[in-house]
Amino acid sequence: MSTEPRKKRSSVADIRARKGGEPIVCLTAYTTPVAERLDPIVDLILVGDSLGMVLYGFENTLPVTLDMMIAHGAAVRRGSKNACLVVDLPFGTYQESPAAAFRAAARVMAETGCSAVKLEGGQEMAETVAFLTARGVPVMGHVGLMPQSVNAGGYRARGQDRKQAEQIKADALAVAEAGAFAIVLEGVVETLAREITAQVPVPTIGIGASPACDGQVLVTDDLIGLFSSFKPKFVKRYAEVGDEIARAAAAYAEDVRARRFPAPEHTFPARVAKA
Ligand code: KIV
Repeated sequence: MSTEPRKKRSSVADIRARKGGEPIVCLTAYTTPVAERLDPIVDLILVGDSLGMVLYGFENTLPVTLDMMIAHGAAVRRGSKNACLVVDLPFGTYQESPAAAFRAAARVMAETGCSAVKLEGGQEMAETVAFLTARGVPVMGHVGLMPQSVNAGGYRARGQDRKQAEQIKADALAVAEAGAFAIVLEGVVETLAREITAQVPVPTIGIGASPACDGQVLVTDDLIGLFSSFKPKFVKRYAEVGDEIARAAAAYAEDVRARRFPAPEHTFPARVAKA
């Protein structure tokens, strides 16, 4: 048996306590092998419903189901032991009522072993956030650009005009007051991100929301160049894994066509029968 002290998984309380401190590092993962690679590096892994677009090729996140989130959440849980694990509640599973949200969240928590769920929405979801947190389900909020509401507002940056900025600020404050342990701020202008971060008592995790936030999140497939349908302005590419896959596949195809693969070292030799 190993005598190495086992590092404990970061809890939502650990993330909550990082307000105003060293920036929180968050990335998305949807599979065990990606989770295994991110886990020693990041503070928080998000199983985002972005998987609908990134893995399944849907046009937006709306077709993602609870069963998909649970299958991927459980896979990521198997590949991680250190990072705090948060799983998105998909569209249509929580907006109807706090009770519906609890049923969806309880399945996600029990069947994936994650530490918290994330849901999109501001003032209109505050009652649900309070309902879940009071019943043992930690919640991460998500305000500003909300991809599940794409049909009501598109993917434009939010908070350019004062009225919209005031609404987003009120949303963030309402979700924090309702008990969210952290809030994703997506696609909001820097001045607004700075104001919200200064006013809410919980960490803000930005995506396209400037360095003013308490942490940052990106979709891993954007960061590694594996999702190429479009590249939002706020994405920085750190690798070109998509090109690397195409290069490896082309090299394999060439070898197969030239009968260079499989080579003797990839081939089971016939056993020589003893006389
Ligand atoms: O679904 C997702 O990956 C997200 C992040 C982009 C914050 O919600």
